[in-house]
Amino acid sequence: MLRTIYCGELREEHIGQEVKVCGWVQRQRDLGGLIFIDLRDRSGIVQLAFDQDSDKEDFEKAFATRSEYVLCATGTVRSRGESARNANIPTGFIEIAVTHLDIISAAQTPPFEIVDNSNAREELRLKHRYLDLRRPELQSKLIARSKITTIARNFFADNGFIDVETPILVKSTPEGARDYLVPSRVHPGSFYALPQSPQLYKQLLMVSGFDRYFQIARCFRDEDLRADRQPEFTQIDLEMSFVDQEDIIDVNERFLKHLFKEFKGIDLEIPLQRMPYDQAMLRYGCDKPDLRFGFEIVELTELLKDCEFKVFADTIANGGKVRAINVKGGGKFTRKEIDSLTDYVKTQQKAKGLAWTKNNGGEISSSYAKFLTEDENKAIYDAMGFENDDIIFIVADKTKVVCAALGALRCEVARRLNIIDPDCYKLLWITDFPMFEYDEEENRYVATHHPFTAPRDEDLEFLLTDPGKVYSKAYDIIINGSEAGGGSVRIHTPEVQNKVFDAIGLTKEESQLKFGYLLEAFKYGVPPHAGLAYGLDRLVGLLLGTDAIRDVIAFPKVQNASELMTECPSEVPQKSLDELFISVNPPAKEE
Ligand code: AMO
Ligand code: AMP
Repeated sequence: MLRTIYCGELREEHIGQEVKVCGWVQRQRDLGGLIFIDLRDRSGIVQLAFDQDSDKEDFEKAFATRSEYVLCATGTVRSRGESARNANIPTGFIEIAVTHLDIISAAQTPPFEIVDNSNAREELRLKHRYLDLRRPELQSKLIARSKITTIARNFFADNGFIDVETPILVKSTPEGARDYLVPSRVHPGSFYALPQSPQLYKQLLMVSGFDRYFQIARCFRDEDLRADRQPEFTQIDLEMSFVDQEDIIDVNERFLKHLFKEFKGIDLEIPLQRMPYDQAMLRYGCDKPDLRFGFEIVELTELLKDCEFKVFADTIANGGKVRAINVKGGGKFTRKEIDSLTDYVKTQQKAKGLAWTKNNGGEISSSYAKFLTEDENKAIYDAMGFENDDIIFIVADKTKVVCAALGALRCEVARRLNIIDPDCYKLLWITDFPMFEYDEEENRYVATHHPFTAPRDEDLEFLLTDPGKVYSKAYDIIINGSEAGGGSVRIHTPEVQNKVFDAIGLTKEESQLKFGYLLEAFKYGVPPHAGLAYGLDRLVGLLLGTDAIRDVIAFPKVQNASELMTECPSEVPQKSLDELFISVNPPAKEE
């Protein structure tokens, strides 16, 4: 070992000791007869000092040192003079009087300065990700991630879960997101897929009798990227046998309680709140409500169905809804701010408009009140609990649009009013999801979670007659308005599984071709089973208070799914394609 101690660990208690430290030069300051070097390793920074008493050769080396050089320095820890102390860093009261310096590696001037809050372009930083990862902030995030996976591993191992690795080259099952495909050389024209999740393998492990499985599993999905989505990401994946929804919820609540205590020192109160999907849509306009603030959605449809205002009455007559939120403290919004929020729901959520009434210190103004009777306006105030300094926002539209618009608006105003406490964590389960969603493009039902999810017992009878009416035994764990994980009780009989395939329009032949092995396995004795998977990247992001999961991934991909550092994906030599019997037919490049 070259070092005896990490830079950031040095304290006054080490004064007088001889130490050896290694690291990168944060900066070098030459004050004539004095040279100071801030040396950085993953633990922090320590100051190296050189002066007239230093070895002449060392002094010259220190003089020649530039930012990001790699050094190894031996020296004696000494107290800094009263005036030279820096209370802002943990090592600020000491320095190392260097007795021997080795320049291990020189460095070119980096393309950007290695400091937190650097204003270097993100693209440039990602291109040199290994340099950006030298920043303490990014290092601490990855170190935190490692702590979280360790806590998870230990918890599930301690609770009888067996860690099993499932394959990365798997059968393509284009259900859900698009697959990443890998061509087979041995079977020309055939492809593996990269797994979107270990779903079917973990179910088969239950058929095998492993009883409790878990894995920190890499997943791949070829879908459009967002801040909280990467094409490859990691799940904490688990499955249990001879259990139902309650058992999965129980073990995961205990896991979350343990994780929050160990990692954040927060005492989570369990059992967590639960809310059926339909209620979440009605009250929050989405299936992942952020409960850190109020502004719940209120139904005004019944109240306004006979009003004279065409925007409301016509919408209702056509089967739409009129719903509203009351934003406490929003009465002070200016017309400009209201216009910008209107614009937001129109452009982002495709709502036709946004009606409002505000009370700014007792002065009431409204975009629609003049079209309603006094009684109707009063009824709205009562329904909304309208008070001083409030603003009511109303959306009239198709149910889906109303939910999306008001759901997004309540989050947007909370952000703009800056009322979200970053240290607050609100967790809840969303349960009883619709089993299917109608896919307008494909003209068929698709599984909301996945087609292996069990329908609720009481809805089984509608599986073939009215799939839209069927709810499932699926559940999501929501943290601060983000879907941190999701899972379900699984189907464990071939009869129900076949009916579900039927409902999503898979013919016998197609389901046999895609999932034949599962149906076959179900013939040989299947335990009832259920499971869940957390998005690890999201979970880490939430615990660290960042929305952008690329900050908690060592080498993330950008919006167009490429990695800027290695420049992948990339073209391959013709020879490689020939070996795979692949001819490429790319679209003509746009000018
Ligand atoms: P699901 O598809 O809901 O369920 O995924 C589980 C969790 O993984 C996270 N996640 C993602 N994170 C980052 N980037 C992505 N592209 C991405 N997609 C999903 C989310 C999500 O809640 N096999 C089932 C689980 C089960 O039923 O047991 C599954 O994969 O946090
Ligand atoms: P107008 O009569 O078109 O000026 O509309 C009066 C108010 O109703 C304005 O504030 C509009 O933004 C609002 N409005 C229009 N369409 C809708 C809608 N679908 N939902 C809610 N408010 C709307």
